[in-house]
Amino acid sequence: MNLHDAIQAARAASERAYAPYSNFLVGAAILTQGGAVYAGCNVENASYGLGICAERNAAARMIADGEDREIGLVAVYSPNAAPCFPCGACRQVLREFGCEEVVVLDGEGNPRRYPFEEILPHSFGPEVL
Ligand code: THU
Repeated sequence: MNLHDAIQAARAASERAYAPYSNFLVGAAILTQGGAVYAGCNVENASYGLGICAERNAAARMIADGEDREIGLVAVYSPNAAPCFPCGACRQVLREFGCEEVVVLDGEGNPRRYPFEEILPHSFGPEVL
């Protein structure tokens, strides 16, 4: 699997988003260092604070699968915002698993690629502990 597959997976996941409160649909797909793709969508809740973002959903699926814990990149897509960047909390979770790059899609569907250090500079990570 490659970047193109991750982008397609992020787009497809956004169509499965459960976002009845915000109506803001998001899909994210992690491409691991081993070449696997794990997609997630946002899942909201009537108890608003319990909603989970697409990126963290994708990370949870990666960990639950148990095969590969190293994130190469994450691709993020929302039909409601182009580009859609990961929120601060999700940046920290992606950081935990060594994410090296964030890819967001612009209004024309073209990928914009950012080194992770640019997305979350001077970050705190597991190797500090
Ligand atoms: N959301 C994500 O899933 N990922 C992002 O990158 C930004 C925000 C979700 C959370 C919530 O369900 C909705 O989008 C509006 O904030």
